[in-house]
Amino acid sequence: MAKKKASKSPKYDEFKHPEATSPMRPDVGTQAAFKKKKPPVTYRYDSSLSPAFDWDGQNPAREEGEAVLARLREQLGELRAALELPGLDAALRDRLAASASQCVGLIDQLKAMSRPFLNWAGKAERFSFDVPSLPLFVHERLSTKAIVTTLRGHKRDKLTQGTMFDLFGDPQHSIVDQITRAYEYQDGWVNRMILGDSLVVMNSLLHFENLGGQVQMIYMDPPYGVKYGSNFQPFVRRRDVKHGDDEDLTREPEMVQAYRDTWELGLHSYLTYLRDRLLLIRNLLHSTGSVFLQISDENVHHARELLDEVFGSRNFVSLITFKKTSSASGSLLSSVSDYLLWYAKDIERLKYEQLYSEKSAGEAGGTQYTWAEHPDGTRLNYGSFERLEAEAPKGSRVFRHDNLTSQRPSQGADVRSFNFEGRTFTPGKGTFKTDSEGLESLAKNKRLIAVGNTLSYVRFLDDFPVFPTANLWVDTVSSGFAAQKLYVVQTNPTAIQRCILMTTSPGDLVLDPTCGSGTTAHVAEQWGRRWITIDTSRVPLALARQRLLTATFLYYQLRDEKRGPVGQFVYRRKQNSHGDEIGGIVPHVTLKSIANNEPPAEEVLVDRPDVEPNITRVSGPFTVEGTIPPPVDTPGDSDGSAEVGTESNGKFADRMLEVLRKSPVLRLEGSRSVTLKNIRPPAKSLSLSAEAIQTGEEDKPVAFAFGPENGAVTETLVHQALREANMKGYAHLYVIGFAIQPNARKLIADAGLMGVPATYVQATPDLMMGDLLKSLRSSHIFSVCGLPEIDVRPAGGGQFEVELLGLDVFDPVTMEVEHRRGDDVPAWLLDTDYNNLCFHVCQAFFPRTSAWDNLKKALKGIYDDAVWDDLAGTTSTPFEPGEHRQIAVKVIDDRGNELLVVKSLPK
Ligand SMILES: C[S@@+](CC[C@H](N)C(=O)[O-])C[C@H]1O[C@@H](n2cnc3c(N)ncnc32)[C@H](O)[C@@H]1O
Repeated sequence: MAKKKASKSPKYDEFKHPEATSPMRPDVGTQAAFKKKKPPVTYRYDSSLSPAFDWDGQNPAREEGEAVLARLREQLGELRAALELPGLDAALRDRLAASASQCVGLIDQLKAMSRPFLNWAGKAERFSFDVPSLPLFVHERLSTKAIVTTLRGHKRDKLTQGTMFDLFGDPQHSIVDQITRAYEYQDGWVNRMILGDSLVVMNSLLHFENLGGQVQMIYMDPPYGVKYGSNFQPFVRRRDVKHGDDEDLTREPEMVQAYRDTWELGLHSYLTYLRDRLLLIRNLLHSTGSVFLQISDENVHHARELLDEVFGSRNFVSLITFKKTSSASGSLLSSVSDYLLWYAKDIERLKYEQLYSEKSAGEAGGTQYTWAEHPDGTRLNYGSFERLEAEAPKGSRVFRHDNLTSQRPSQGADVRSFNFEGRTFTPGKGTFKTDSEGLESLAKNKRLIAVGNTLSYVRFLDDFPVFPTANLWVDTVSSGFAAQKLYVVQTNPTAIQRCILMTTSPGDLVLDPTCGSGTTAHVAEQWGRRWITIDTSRVPLALARQRLLTATFLYYQLRDEKRGPVGQFVYRRKQNSHGDEIGGIVPHVTLKSIANNEPPAEEVLVDRPDVEPNITRVSGPFTVEGTIPPPVDTPGDSDGSAEVGTESNGKFADRMLEVLRKSPVLRLEGSRSVTLKNIRPPAKSLSLSAEAIQTGEEDKPVAFAFGPENGAVTETLVHQALREANMKGYAHLYVIGFAIQPNARKLIADAGLMGVPATYVQATPDLMMGDLLKSLRSSHIFSVCGLPEIDVRPAGGGQFEVELLGLDVFDPVTMEVEHRRGDDVPAWLLDTDYNNLCFHVCQAFFPRTSAWDNLKKALKGIYDDAVWDDLAGTTSTPFEPGEHRQIAVKVIDDRGNELLVVKSLPK
């Protein structure tokens, strides 16, 4: 493969946020020793924010309340009558008048408290709710710059270990510090993608990280419907999901639990789900911050009621309608739009930046521009812009006539008449918008025109080439190949971009608790905002990770490179050869500026910062984090995350034992299988769930550990089970789960070293989905599948390379294990110096896709195409061994599952 040495420094860069910090989070792998537990947090609804009186017809409070209001009105009448009495002392009259107006205010307040309100099953009982406080662990660190820097063509020797970690924004805390001092240190800021339920993660941000009041904007796009199948896209590479088909349902254990917890009562649980999250959102928001809730017409009315309750109706800012599709369907009026409910934390303090759209004659903002001023100075109304465009001579200036009078009542000094072109004009019932000097100045500048008997102001189209954006967005439909969706429910970026630009400044923090394919994160990254995004599902996070990692953006010029985006972007006034304003600053010629002979005002168009044309920007470093329940120390010492030995797991273990008895055959790789007999619970066990005799040439005792019902098998669970199995002399340990964390998988692979070989057995998720499926169709309940197969080999010059040969993919629908070639996986990632804790993504491969194409095009001339071919294939770019002389490969399968293999490098 031809190598081309970089002759000039690569023209790519990223935005960093050197002034921002966030508390240190520990790496995954330290959780077994992590002891900083916090009790669950109780959130209460502020009763003053919801209607206080229940005016239900059955309720005597209604009659009583209305009687009190009637008496108050009566007393107010008396008071007013007393005010009319002759000879009343002036001071007393003033006091009585003040009391009367106070009474009016109180009556209004009482009336407001008795307004109708939304009620649903479970609301009245839910004055408060508890959320577990879980720490977040860093699973992965990603940096596009690190990947590009290590590509073939760059000499590794220029990069010391230190700078490599800098690229990932990894402060490299010692394990001891991570365990004992986590959340105490402040580290540099890196953006964050977090796997977990939004409620739990937001609680963690509030209580482990003190992030309350620090988020400038929150964009939430919850699932619209309340049906299981409509909420989740279960495959990374399939967007044509047929909702309602068993095959197309997600089988992630966390999602099944999330569904059972949140959607069980349909709309009722949906409202509870939303209101709880909105309450935490309010706590996270800065006092000048905003929340946007994206919603369809199905529940927009309920969502607005909820927001009114949680934020107060006075903090309602706008209901934005934006177009989501151009294809009209349905037998009645088609629905082509979605809605954004925008609330301020405090409307008095709201941060707001006016956006502008380009004004074009004949189009939105420019429909009244039908007049032309010809090059010879004559003026003509063409009646429509189309006619004007067709008939007006070249060089004409387009304008409209505008009101010169205002309805303000006349004051003594106002101009009552004005002579123009031999005629006298009066302002009618109103007044002229300027004084006589101003009118003279307007006339001198040819800004007046007589239309009939009215004197009008001449407003040229180019006086202000833009117009303020309002709450109807029709340009938000994606079309064409470039706009192809990654995720079935992906939001159009223009809509989110407007929300971000209206309510935040560069460097501000944006949060999206419903990440999906990461549109908010992508737009926030584009505009130099810091971001955190959360999703319960691995499939969307896998999509979002790829999207951010391979994205390219314009490099906006920074006013202060050292400070990063928080120092703001550079805006300039610029015109093209036709004289059109194309810069980020545009003049705003107004009647007032001409009348007063002032230079025109200028407006900043925040969406048009100056661009540095020679630099391609890539995403800054970011992490993938997750809420992992802390280890369960002793039986019963549980935080609700069922692990071995807890009461809730007890019932689950009994059920699993039953299933195992009925289905005592485990399918192994190839066409081998294992048959079990005498399956029973072990005596006095802390970590094991069952024991049995494995039949064969020689019968041998084997042990079982069942993973949690609603989550993945953890490393701690495996570790404890292995220890006990070893102590009790079992010949083999089978760990049965619905999903497994990569580190736990690795421990099972290495279990032989701990004295007992172990095997991970996949249980069909159909077992826990039960009634969600139309039928439980799998005939095989338990099955085994291997780890990815890799080849690590020397690549000359002391370097190594890794090839992904293949992968056994477990299909939870058919329970079949299918072998896939290395180039038939959605993604695989390589850490060239794995430290057994956090996975540093040094190389990222998206086989047979064009994921890296944008960057490849942008950096043409710097790297050979072959380098990018590597990243679309199955063989890594050669790399130098790192300090740990150990590599890790993480393969992402179609369902977003992660499989980790770790290999030492030969000396
Ligand atoms: C409508 S999609 C968001 C799409 C996103 N706006 C985009 O542009 O791709 C809703 C997302 O919320 C996630 N979700 C649902 N319930 C959640 C919860 N309790 N916590 C976190 N994420 C959740 C789903 O997995 C899904 O990816």
